[in-house]
Amino acid sequence: MTRRVAILGSTGSIGVNTLDVIRAHPDRFNVAALTAGKQIDRLVEQCIEFQPAIAVVSEADDAKRLEALLRQKNIATQVMHGPSSLVAAVTDSDCDTVMAAIVGAAGLVPALAAAKAGKRVLLANKEALVMSGNLFMHAISAGGGELLPIDSEHNAIFQCLPNNFTKESSPQNAYLGVEELWLTASGGPFRNTPLEQLSNITPEQACAHPNWVMGRKISVDSATMMNKGLEVIEAFWLFGLPLEKIKVLIHPQSVVHSMVRYRDGSVLAQMGQPDMRTPIAYGLAWPERIAAGVPSLSLTQLANLSFSEPDLSRFPCLSLAFAAAKTGGTAPTVLNAANEIAVAAFLDEGLPYLQIPVVVEKTLNAIAIEGADSLDTILHVDAQARKVTRELIQAL
Ligand SMILES: NC(=O)c1ccc[n+]([C@@H]2O[C@H](COP(=O)([O-])OP(=O)(O)OC[C@H]3O[C@@H](n4cnc5c(N)ncnc54)[C@H](OP(=O)(O)O)[C@@H]3O)[C@@H](O)[C@H]2O)c1
Repeated sequence: MTRRVAILGSTGSIGVNTLDVIRAHPDRFNVAALTAGKQIDRLVEQCIEFQPAIAVVSEADDAKRLEALLRQKNIATQVMHGPSSLVAAVTDSDCDTVMAAIVGAAGLVPALAAAKAGKRVLLANKEALVMSGNLFMHAISAGGGELLPIDSEHNAIFQCLPNNFTKESSPQNAYLGVEELWLTASGGPFRNTPLEQLSNITPEQACAHPNWVMGRKISVDSATMMNKGLEVIEAFWLFGLPLEKIKVLIHPQSVVHSMVRYRDGSVLAQMGQPDMRTPIAYGLAWPERIAAGVPSLSLTQLANLSFSEPDLSRFPCLSLAFAAAKTGGTAPTVLNAANEIAVAAFLDEGLPYLQIPVVVEKTLNAIAIEGADSLDTILHVDAQARKVTRELIQAL
């Protein structure tokens, strides 16, 4: 069967890697829809190569330019723009598989639409699940589709869990003996930087991840370890284990992508190169395995593999995420929104690196937490938290 794939965020790091895997398997996949934010030139090239039914950009002017360029090349792709067209890319393109790889809260509504429509959802956009975990998981069940995690840690855990493991806590799960999930973290570029030097960190230093090549927002999140905090919340929703059974381990080599500890003393780990094409290929072809273009792992060339507990005083964002996860309701939505605004201000407006956790914590303290029961509530709280964070940053 040929899968028809829509890629939300095709111009980003995950989007480009997804197209790389698809390019290598023209017999298995074709591209139904591509969406971008602002990188129009890159989207033009992608549309010329893959000729999707639908292409979406954020702005009307960019859509006009894209359409003109595609018509010159006799490409009939329907060009649309704006947030509601991201949903149309999923619902109107005849796709059966959706790669959700828009960064941040902007990806929530189209990812939810894919879940409701019963697609195979390949979830890279962890922020969607952090904001709306309960709603999202219900949408997947109600839609009757599949949810496959693309984040390398969650993909690793998915691979290490028994096939018949279900996310609901059921007697069957107890019988399967899963005790704990261990999420590994590289510790980012500042794992060993003296604490007094952290006040002068620049965006370029924060985005220079030692092992992974990623978009700028997730690179900063990896440096602060907010990324791991978001991943703990993501794992909680994906796999249904209590929070206290989800542990974080610093593993600087990024070879073991995560592990599952079983009752009988076994620990199953998934290992591989730090290359997102492995989890992407796994999700696209599941339950089969296909070539991903990733060099094989040579264990004999590795000097060592080390593991340690994270130092929470160095990574206050991780503590904030643990606390928000424990509080539940809209606390993770507030955490995520405040972090997005703070990271953008660090990248583009000179907010000092060490202020990121400070403004996130102040925003969490300023907003009353409620139940995250509806999309309206979640979007309202998200907007409120963004406003509060912006005001806090302006007041600095
Ligand atoms: N990169 C990784 O290795 C990795 C690993 C695990 C999980 N993830 C997760 O995957 C997601 C994507 O990460 P990434 O590293 O690929 O990010 P990225 O390189 O920054 O790409 C983000 C994509 O989203 C699009 N986009 C951004 N804002 C948008 C908006 N408001 N409306 C529509 N489209 C928008 C961008 O379009 P333009 O560039 O055209 O503006 C781009 O295509 C994130 O949630 C991240 O946490 C990434």
